[in-house]
Amino acid sequence: MTVDGSEMNEVLRAALAASVQWLDGLADRQVTPRSSAIPGQVPLPEVGIGASAAFQELASRAQERAMASAGPRYFHYVVGGATPAALGADWFASALDQVASSAQGSPLAIDLEELATGWLIELFGLGAPEDWTGQFTTGATMASFVGLSAARQWWGMAHGVDVAEEGLAGLPRPVVLTGGYVHASVVKSLAMVGMGRRSIERFTADNRGAVDLARLGARLQSMPKEQGPAIVVATAGEVNAGRFDPIDALADLCEAHGAWLHVDGAFGLFARASADPGVQARCRGIERAQSIASDAHKWLNVPYDCGFAFVRERSLLAKSFRMVADYLPKAPKGSATRRVPANLGPECSRRARALPIFATLLASGRAGVAAMVDEHLRLAKVLAAKIVAQDGLELVDEPHLNVVPFRLAPTGVRKRDLDALNEAAAALVLAGGDVYVGTTRYRSRVVFRPAISNWRTTEADLDHLVAAIVDAGQQCRNESPELR
Ligand SMILES: Cc1ncc(COP(=O)(O)O)c(C=O)c1O
Repeated sequence: MTVDGSEMNEVLRAALAASVQWLDGLADRQVTPRSSAIPGQVPLPEVGIGASAAFQELASRAQERAMASAGPRYFHYVVGGATPAALGADWFASALDQVASSAQGSPLAIDLEELATGWLIELFGLGAPEDWTGQFTTGATMASFVGLSAARQWWGMAHGVDVAEEGLAGLPRPVVLTGGYVHASVVKSLAMVGMGRRSIERFTADNRGAVDLARLGARLQSMPKEQGPAIVVATAGEVNAGRFDPIDALADLCEAHGAWLHVDGAFGLFARASADPGVQARCRGIERAQSIASDAHKWLNVPYDCGFAFVRERSLLAKSFRMVADYLPKAPKGSATRRVPANLGPECSRRARALPIFATLLASGRAGVAAMVDEHLRLAKVLAAKIVAQDGLELVDEPHLNVVPFRLAPTGVRKRDLDALNEAAAALVLAGGDVYVGTTRYRSRVVFRPAISNWRTTEADLDHLVAAIVDAGQQCRNESPELR
């Protein structure tokens, strides 16, 4: 491959200019891509056009086809926009191009993973940093994969089998107990760790998905010894209304029955930074888990992709993820030694993912993160109030965190047509492109579920959201006589 190294500075300057232009326009630009046309295939060039020209081509494609998901009016999923500190650090991580598999690859990356793990544990009030092993991942899915791998190893040991060595063949199917809030990524992780999607048993008490503690407790009580011990998955912040499982009560049950507690706090874990005592109360019990999964690219507003797992028992990770080759670092003995991430998680080569976490926590401090979380909780309440005040909108649940489920429900439209109206309006909102918001099915209804997690979002952006949905609803009704 021929590379013209002299182009480096020019390309980086072009990347800076294009990035600044993009970010400066983010608050005002249409959220959806300007062009909906999928570009045609371009043949692999026989002779390259050079780095600067290639970057210009990329930048012009971005102008047409990139989503302004880092901007203040992207309310789908649970998406943060990168903070200046996090974005600068993430760029620099690419420039440094570290191999963060061990200190042999990058002392800097390992130093900062250890520091950032400690800071996050302190931010979330999870106790002493030395009581946990942190592992940085691409996101919360992989963080659950890490936590549930440790759980699988622990479960195997109860059956006298080192599952990482021997596999699961011949063992009974593990039992994973949850409520209805469990996220699809946990189900996927169970498939990936070999326990199987069907290992999940859901105990729900209502149409929101609240856990039925009594039935889940009874199942724990009656677990046949040959299947046990159970793994319980609790959700801190589900995606439809930001609700929490009663984690403290689930931790009590797990303690009483010797079960493993895994908490999915992809965004909800950040509620532990809030100064609001009511919000803090919902988070109680997370600190009692054996494993926790969370994301930095959601509420910490670090660029994609960046998640993390905390696991109490490092040896379970070491057994699950050990990789041995003569040219690789030896797995250290004892927990006092420095971490070798390649031996504690699924990847071997990996990005220096802690750099943007380190930088944003250093830039904002604990109080800065708490202020952002509390501002988003305030905005969620403001949005709920706007919905209640707006004719033709129905708040489908109080916001329990930063997600606000609501729908169009104008008088005159038959109940059975409301799902169709909301689906049609959602498509029009996206076609308009002023805001991006997703729908879900919640309490047997199609609802919008905006999540507020971007540091740039303001009350004015909420007005855009409400106006876009109300206008789309009106347009649908004008166009479809059956919806009038
Ligand atoms: C509660 C919850 N768990 C897990 C995930 C998966 O996170 P990721 O997309 O970072 O893998 C999400 C993402 O939306 C989530 O909201």
